[in-house]
Amino acid sequence: MSSLAATDERAATAPTRVIQPAWVRVMHWINALAIILMIMSGWQIYNASPLFDFRFSHAITLGGWLGGALLWHFAAMWLLMVNGLVYLALGLATGRFRKKLLPITPSGVISDAKAALTFKLAHDDLTKYNYVQKLLYAGIIVVGIVIVLSGLSIWKPVQLQWLTALFGGYDVARYVHFICMSAIVAFLIVHVALAALVPKSLRAMIIGR
Ligand code: HEM
Repeated sequence: MSSLAATDERAATAPTRVIQPAWVRVMHWINALAIILMIMSGWQIYNASPLFDFRFSHAITLGGWLGGALLWHFAAMWLLMVNGLVYLALGLATGRFRKKLLPITPSGVISDAKAALTFKLAHDDLTKYNYVQKLLYAGIIVVGIVIVLSGLSIWKPVQLQWLTALFGGYDVARYVHFICMSAIVAFLIVHVALAALVPKSLRAMIIGR
């Protein structure tokens, strides 16, 4: 067993204070930075040729103008892609994804969603995700993959025309890219709100402080 797998194993089974292994925490924060840069520069790119009947406020965009925003978008893209690929590889190689995110059953999701809505969801074992968490985390990984693929297809529609065609053409790929961004923003709002609601004592256990 690799030392990374061993770290993951220990984190998942021992009743220690640290629940997330160090590599997960480091990659999580690199990812958070890259995603924020991608979202804010993406909004500036959108403003140059809006898909819908609204524009994003200049105060929450990055890059100042279309050219500047594209530079930010493509710079953060490398951070996101390299970090994301290593994260996926480690998640698969250490068995973390399988252990933490599977299985996801419809009945489990429905009963945990009901329990959460009636404030009856148990939080006694923080090393285990409930079914709603599993579904959201697995779902956001899929959305992350689709936003990267649709981004690549609108960045290089000539070189990667098979990919652009797979999305149904350039215009559809743009909408797919935008919808994935919206899903990520919605996820972030819920994720940050829930993290802020977790009592300090539990947070200290999770992040080891
Ligand atoms: C490898 C990753 C990515 C690549 C290669 C990429 C590439 C691109 C390109 C080329 C555009 C310009 C589209 C146009 O000219 O109309 C664009 C727009 C945009 N991107 Fe990305 N992107 C990536 C990831 C992301 C991520 C992670 C987000 C946000 C979470 C994001 C949000 C946006 C938004 C909001 C727009 C403006 C949508 C539009 O009006 O078309 N992108 N992206």
